[in-house]
Amino acid sequence: FGYLNYLVERDRRFILDTLTNGLSRLEYRGYDSAGLAVDGDNEETTLIIKQVGKVAALKKLVDEQPVDFQKTFISHTGMAHTRWATHGQPCQINSHPHRSGEDNEFTLVHNGIITNYKEIKLLLTKKGYTFESDTDTECVAKLTKYIYDSQKDTPGFNLTSLVKAVAKELEGSFAFIFKSIHFPNEIVATRRGSPLLVGVKTAKKLKVDFVDVEFSNPTEVAASTPAKDANNFLSVDGQPQQMLHRSQSRAFLSEDGLPQPIEYFLASDAAAIVEHTKRVLYLEDDDIAHIADGELHIHRLRRDADGTATTRSIQTLEIELAEIMKGSFDHFMQKEIYEQPESVVNTMRGRVNFEKHEVTLGGLRGYLPIIRRARRIVFIACGTSYHSCLATRGIFEELTEIPTQIDLASDFLDRRTPIFRDDVCVFVSQSGETADTILAMRYCLERGALAVGITNTVGSSISRESHCGVHINAGPEIGVASTKAYTSQYIALVMMAIQLSEDRVSTTERRKEIIDGLYLLPGHIKEVLAEAASLQKLASETLTKEKSLLILGRGYQNATCLEGALKIKEISYMHSEGILAGELKHGPLALIDEAMAVILIMTKDSLFPKVQSALQQVTARKGQPIIICNKGDDDLTKNYKTIPVPQTTDCLQGLVNIIPLQLLSYYLAVLKGQDVDFPRNLAKSVTVE
Ligand code: G6P
Repeated sequence: FGYLNYLVERDRRFILDTLTNGLSRLEYRGYDSAGLAVDGDNEETTLIIKQVGKVAALKKLVDEQPVDFQKTFISHTGMAHTRWATHGQPCQINSHPHRSGEDNEFTLVHNGIITNYKEIKLLLTKKGYTFESDTDTECVAKLTKYIYDSQKDTPGFNLTSLVKAVAKELEGSFAFIFKSIHFPNEIVATRRGSPLLVGVKTAKKLKVDFVDVEFSNPTEVAASTPAKDANNFLSVDGQPQQMLHRSQSRAFLSEDGLPQPIEYFLASDAAAIVEHTKRVLYLEDDDIAHIADGELHIHRLRRDADGTATTRSIQTLEIELAEIMKGSFDHFMQKEIYEQPESVVNTMRGRVNFEKHEVTLGGLRGYLPIIRRARRIVFIACGTSYHSCLATRGIFEELTEIPTQIDLASDFLDRRTPIFRDDVCVFVSQSGETADTILAMRYCLERGALAVGITNTVGSSISRESHCGVHINAGPEIGVASTKAYTSQYIALVMMAIQLSEDRVSTTERRKEIIDGLYLLPGHIKEVLAEAASLQKLASETLTKEKSLLILGRGYQNATCLEGALKIKEISYMHSEGILAGELKHGPLALIDEAMAVILIMTKDSLFPKVQSALQQVTARKGQPIIICNKGDDDLTKNYKTIPVPQTTDCLQGLVNIIPLQLLSYYLAVLKGQDVDFPRNLAKSVTVE
């Protein structure tokens, strides 16, 4: 998170609070340590404050600082970071901001991984640099200082050219914010592979609503291939790199053309910006954003071969502050579970015509003929998003009769899966920023396949880089354990299958049945939520003492089992496994005895008789399953401990059945005293491979 005020008087208290509050909004992305950097008492000093643990711990440390909180700054730059450790354990020294040396000449915060950091470290070590942390990021801070020392006397040298020279040496993924005592009141930010956006707040009207991208001198581009030779990598053939030429464009002029008071907010996620301004600009990979004298200029790190847009325009965020607040709920996850009767409606709003039994996904219009002709559809995702693909695969195949394949993004890449021009690849991701999924998408794009993005985040990498797609419109999801995004992804995929099959008369009745089911869905979800108290009781009286929990089901419910088990693992840290009931006899049955906790999903569909035999297999081994069954199934409710749920269309039943498992996982975590929204070792959005 970064904050810059220009001609707006702010005291240090305000600046520090803005930074730490911004971090709190981003905390779900990582929360093992946090830190910030602000101006010291004069522009030549930078104050860095870092702390292990959550943002609250940093806030406390900030309050204890022996500084003048009333000191005002007419212009100031600050940056802050909350960490999810990749290189180096969570400790104060490894947390960000990182610095170039003890005098804090250059400070930076980083999201991503620098994969060639060892080479950089080796070279800088040979040059006499020493390192205080185990991180990849610190190498970049030291590299900045090294390049600064060697190039600062070059004509035209500035913070942008410096960051450009640094970024050219980096491999891996990053979003950076740089600050330096040599360039007071300036910020440079750049990204490649990790998200970064800039919010703009002014009282006056802006004359321009876009920023021209400033290209480098073409001769420089030709010479700018980074030399891989570690000995001369800091300059091109021993020559200092040429400077950018500034175009005449000026960004964000006030209507009268005079300098104007303005504030900028930089963040990995719009959630941290929306409380300040709704006007944002998304940076593209290899953009270098330079903010100085109240103006934002964007430069490119490399020249684009294609005609990539030469402007970046201001967009208006559609999320509301209330959407990212907990309100009266104890946890974001709880709030998000309870939002589902509405979030599923938001996913369908304006898309499903319940009277005419039609679905229109505007984002796919124009691509339907290509998708229908596809040799196969490949669904690629991670975690919960992967489960939403699994949950809808059956209905997709049934309605469209297009062969489908489902892959976890990391495994898909590991296998270097063959992909062809006539493949359609669907990338499902709540955040739209999961590194594995993005890399898989780029892999498919390179091979000429059509890329369809299904995301919950407008402006995310996947929604921007895919050819077409669907926004699931579930609203911001903050809890690390995904709940409402799952149900909305599920519905988006069902809607896609319906739309794709609308030219098939033979499936008309089936589509009608599903659309009628979708109409009733919000009410069905509400019915399950109304039973929360009995699920809480089940969690506290029966399940909380268990070490392990198996969740069995088959057909459409296989995904429910896997997703339910994932929820339980993620937030209550209890071992749980989702098992396809058809596989029970091929191994897992060995685990069953009177002591093993088992949940069996036995809602009614065509596979019900087969699940009955799984029940026999379990009870014959003295297992005592808890059964998720349909309301009114007296055979089961009278003889077993059950969780009754309303019945719906078979392919939508998973949307209802997952709700009690979400609630159970939530109550188990609360009972065990776990940090529901911030489970250990996890992060909401994994932007590293
Ligand atoms: C992380 C989160 C999971 C999530 C997965 C995929 O591992 O902890 O909850 O399901 O990433 O995230 P995506 O944003 O791509 O759906």
